[in-house]
Amino acid sequence: MEQKKRIFSGIQPSGDLTLGSYMGAIKNWVALQDDYDCLYCIVDMHAITVRQVPADLRRRSLEQLAQYIACGLDPEKNIMFIQSHVAEHAELAWVLGCYTQFGELSRMTQFKDKSQKHADNITAGLFTYPVLMAADILLYQTDLVPVGQDQKQHVELCRDIANRFNGVYSETFTLPEPFIPPMGAKIMSLGAPESKMSKSDPDGCVFLMDRPEEIMRKFKRAITDCETAVKYDRENKPGVSNLLTIYCAATGKTMEAAEQEFAGQGYGVFKPAVGEAVVELVRPIQEEALRLMKDKAYLESIYQSGAQKAQALAQKTLRKVYKKVGFVAR
Ligand code: TYM
Repeated sequence: MEQKKRIFSGIQPSGDLTLGSYMGAIKNWVALQDDYDCLYCIVDMHAITVRQVPADLRRRSLEQLAQYIACGLDPEKNIMFIQSHVAEHAELAWVLGCYTQFGELSRMTQFKDKSQKHADNITAGLFTYPVLMAADILLYQTDLVPVGQDQKQHVELCRDIANRFNGVYSETFTLPEPFIPPMGAKIMSLGAPESKMSKSDPDGCVFLMDRPEEIMRKFKRAITDCETAVKYDRENKPGVSNLLTIYCAATGKTMEAAEQEFAGQGYGVFKPAVGEAVVELVRPIQEEALRLMKDKAYLESIYQSGAQKAQALAQKTLRKVYKKVGFVAR
C-alpha cells in the first residue's frame, strides 16, 4: 500500500477555541483525516510566548483536546498530543534557530502585531516563535500544513529554513506546503470586520463553547453597513461578506445559494439566521466536549499514547539532524 502523505497542525491553548480557528483550521483537519497521516497538536509551548495564568493554561490544554475530538477528529486515526510532552520540539528548535536569520524573524507580521500588543513584554520567545513552529512541522517530515491565512507566512519561513538546511547538509527535511481553505481562511471580527476574529477581542469573537444566547447576541449586534442587500463584496461590504462566509462555512452552502436565500430580505432576518446556523453547528460539538471533559482518564490515555507515537517519529528526524550538524552520537 502506498504511504499516505503527512499532515501536522496545531492550535495554541492561549484562549478558548474560536469560530475562526474552527473554520480556518479544525474543520479542514476533520475533512483531511482519512486521506492523510495526521498529527494534531496542542501547542502549549507556543502559548507561553505571552504571559499565561498557569492553572488556566493547564485546563485549556485539556479542554482543547476534548474539543478536537468533539469536532470530529478521531483519536484512533490521528496522533493527538501536547507539544511539551515531546522534548524534541524544543531540541530541534534550537538547531533551526542557528539556521534562521534575525532579519527573517523581524519581518514576521505576527511578531510585529504581538510585540505592539504586549509592548511591556517583548520576549526572545515571541521573536523566535516561528522557529519553534518550523521545528513542529519539520520534525514529522510534514507534507501539508492546514492553517488559516494568518499562518501562511510562518509556513513559508519554515520552508525557507528547511531548504537552507537541506542545501547545506543534503536532503534532510520534507518541504511542507500550506493548505489554506478556499472558504473560511480568514474569519473577521463581528465588531470590526476589517480585522481578524481573535480570542483577544472577546466581543467580536465567537467561541466554540459560547452559550446559544451569547452566540445569538453577538450575531445580532454584528457590524454590517448602511445598505440593505445581502451580497458578497469583501471590499465594500466587509461585515456582510464575513457573515455570508460564516453562514456558508457553517451550513456547507455555496455563496450563490446563500445570496439567493436572503435576496430581498434585510439584515434583521439575515443576522439572526447566521447566528442560528452557528448555534446548530456548535450544539453537538459542545455536548460531546462537555461529556469528554468528565472523562479525564480517557483524555489522558489519548494524549499519552499520542505523545509516545509522536516522539518515535520525532526522534528519527532529530537523530538525523544531530548527526548532520556534527554532534557526537550518545
Ligand atoms: P493559532 O493558535 O493562533 O490559531 C490556530 C489556527 O486557527 C487559524 N485561525 C483562523 N482562521 C481563520 N480565521 C480566523 N479568524 C482565525 N484565527 C485563527 C490559524 O490560522 C491557525 O491555523 N502558530 C500557530 C500555531 C502553530 C502551528 C504550528 C500551526 C504552532 N505550531 C505548526 C501549524 C503548524 C498559531 O498561532 O495558531
